[in-house]
Amino acid sequence: MVDDTTGPHESAHDLLASFDALTPETMRARGSLKWSTYDGDVIGAWVAEMDLGTAPAVARVLRRAVDDGSLGYMPMSVGERAREAVAAFHRHSFGWAVPRRDVSLLPNVLSALGAVIAQHTAPSSPVVVPTPAYMPFLSIPGRYGRRCMQVPALHTHDASGAPVWRLDLDGIEAAMAAGAGLLILCNPWNPVGRVLSPAELDAVAELSSRYHIPVLADEIHSSLVLDPAAAHTPYGSRPGADPDLTFTVTAVSKGWNIPGLMCAQLIASGGARSAWEADPLSAHLADEAAYLGARAVAAALSPEGLAWNRAVRTYLHGNGDLIAGALAGIETVELTVPEGSYLAWLDCSRLPVPEGASPARFFRREPGVAMSPGAAFGRGYESFCRLNLATGRTIAAQIAQRLVDAAAEPRG
Ligand SMILES: Cc1ncc(COP(=O)(O)O)c(C=O)c1O
Repeated sequence: MVDDTTGPHESAHDLLASFDALTPETMRARGSLKWSTYDGDVIGAWVAEMDLGTAPAVARVLRRAVDDGSLGYMPMSVGERAREAVAAFHRHSFGWAVPRRDVSLLPNVLSALGAVIAQHTAPSSPVVVPTPAYMPFLSIPGRYGRRCMQVPALHTHDASGAPVWRLDLDGIEAAMAAGAGLLILCNPWNPVGRVLSPAELDAVAELSSRYHIPVLADEIHSSLVLDPAAAHTPYGSRPGADPDLTFTVTAVSKGWNIPGLMCAQLIASGGARSAWEADPLSAHLADEAAYLGARAVAAALSPEGLAWNRAVRTYLHGNGDLIAGALAGIETVELTVPEGSYLAWLDCSRLPVPEGASPARFFRREPGVAMSPGAAFGRGYESFCRLNLATGRTIAAQIAQRLVDAAAEPRG
């Protein structure tokens, strides 16, 4: 079979120079969702897409598939190679001994969430969602007739005054005790960018076992830990996480920027795996994963693909520093710099905005920076915005300048 994982290497210098050279005009011409939704001189900084393209190793397999006319259904060997690559990635990057048989392919992470809710939790049981939460976690349970129990994060500040977001374990326990059927655990945590500690994961595992409530661990941002001081720990790797109650869902779609290729993964062992395989609707999702996506997974997780991801993480960390530095003296906006994911969380509660406007609307309309509105992330976050840092340095500098100018002189 064709070896997708080797090819000419682009120098790191050329790669970073190509990121630096990106401009809003280039991005609008490319027409991604992030850049094509709002007209005029608006910088797209909302939906979780990166402006940095994908790894040359991934681009190469896609080109090769087109050149070869290989655009059909998934050959078994390609699916197996993707599953093995995901297992090896978890072993080598996070020290989690995942056997290939525990990895299944799926079209996307949210398809797994729907299946877990519908097929693997008690009928009509509510879903516990720590907030602020990735928006579909709040809307998808309702599609399956389930109520969402929002558990707001504990929001404090560290000794240096930087914002800190932590799971409210007492709140989660109260929701479990009140009859919840599932906990959604997002780690790294979109939108606050926390990389959860082993101690926090252990506390969640203890609650899951005590109340016998399954956990869906969404680890789609695990390959995007930006803070060199942080390390991703998979929930399922913790000794206390009951394999019968643990569904881990992940993908390379964020770290390599290929969500359109529709090939995510479920990692499950023990009773969770048996239940998944025994349920025809869940097991059938494997048939819906895309062939090109599976080829891209193996290329992303090849040594060359991993090196690209490392360079991108360092680069994005630089964007975070740049924007945090620019906003440091601005009292009306408080930025939570992400440890993981390229999503920053902005508290704009001290920002005077025009009557009836949210901060996200204000920043989109006035300086022209389109962020995600906090209201979508749960009750009580109306005065927050989520900012996507995954762009080139020139654009990041423009974002910083626009935010600073508008926040320093808001029109009340
Ligand atoms: C935490 C989280 N989960 C899931 C998704 C969506 O994943 P998918 O496109 O595989 O459904 C996203 C997309 O941004 C996300 O941030």
